[in-house]
Amino acid sequence: MSPIPSESEIGRAASILRAGGLVAFPTETVYGLGADASDPTAVAKIFAAKGRPQNHPLIVHLARIELLPLWAAQIPPAAHKLAAAFWPGPLTLILRRAAGVPDCVSGGQDTVGLRIPGHPVALELLKAFAGTEGERRFSGVAAPSANRFGRISPTTAEHVRAELGDAVDCIIDGGECEVGIESTIIDLSRERAVLLRPGQITPAQIAAVLGAEVESPDAAAPRVPGALEGHYAPRTPMNLVPAAELPARLTALRGQKLAVLARAEAPEGLKDVYWQEAPRAVAGYAHELYASLRRLDELGCDLILVEAPPAVPGWQGVSDRLRRASSD
Ligand code: TXA
Ligand code: MG
Repeated sequence: MSPIPSESEIGRAASILRAGGLVAFPTETVYGLGADASDPTAVAKIFAAKGRPQNHPLIVHLARIELLPLWAAQIPPAAHKLAAAFWPGPLTLILRRAAGVPDCVSGGQDTVGLRIPGHPVALELLKAFAGTEGERRFSGVAAPSANRFGRISPTTAEHVRAELGDAVDCIIDGGECEVGIESTIIDLSRERAVLLRPGQITPAQIAAVLGAEVESPDAAAPRVPGALEGHYAPRTPMNLVPAAELPARLTALRGQKLAVLARAEAPEGLKDVYWQEAPRAVAGYAHELYASLRRLDELGCDLILVEAPPAVPGWQGVSDRLRRASSD
């Protein structure tokens, strides 16, 4: 059972956001580290808490579609179609930014990332936050994943505490995040739809709604600094190994302290290896992935071996995160 934060807890968190503080909150993908997106001083605290470079743009989280024009200057028909199909949900749209979007949110680019998250607690918080107070209007919460820069995204409130501890003013506990990997990011700031980060919602699903192919980024695509290699990484070195090669690798590495993450039972007679069995289907695999990597990282092994996931479209989001987390 997920803990259900009380209305007063959510109200208190919304007040902290309005006062320029930092609130970590659950979304359906991973936990976010939120601040008032219209307040550069508050947003600066996000970068400080995460140890994140200043030029990395942030996703602005909204309670409802009516708030979109406050943040996006041009809302193409494709954005309306995708919003209708997938929001609230694990999809981020990159649109041309509206005047007044702080540079610290857009990373100085002429675009902004926007999403309406599909988690009841996130939505309650965003609704409680939005509104006016005297001259001030509150509408969007900037929130990256609530981890230290480059590290594994948190999927429980406990992970957030371990990552950021006292650097946050409030952590709302909403239990485990359902999806488990970050949102799919689609750039709609130019004529076509471009996949900037794969996630649970697949390019095929996007293409079906748009009636047009989703393209891969070209040189003119917006920068996605978060798509750096070496992101989402455990501290322990990690290698991706094709399933068929796993037995031979284990033999070759005998004597080292090893952990394995595989969609299979531990082989009979295996000794001195920590074997973590992963769910066979992609939804379950993604849901558990970051918690599993954290657990394996804490064992103090010499090496984590991860069985390479199936090379099929539905696994693109998981494969992307594993590739970035691996050191080979
Ligand atoms: O599921 C998610 O998207 C989670 C939850 C908390 O909503 N958030 C998340 O945020 O993953 P973050 O900051 O860890 O990753 C956001 C990614 C980064 O790679 C960033 O570079 C990219 O989105 N991004 C944000 N705004 C952008 C923009 N205007 N143009 C290009 N990329 C952008
Ligand atoms: Mg992140």
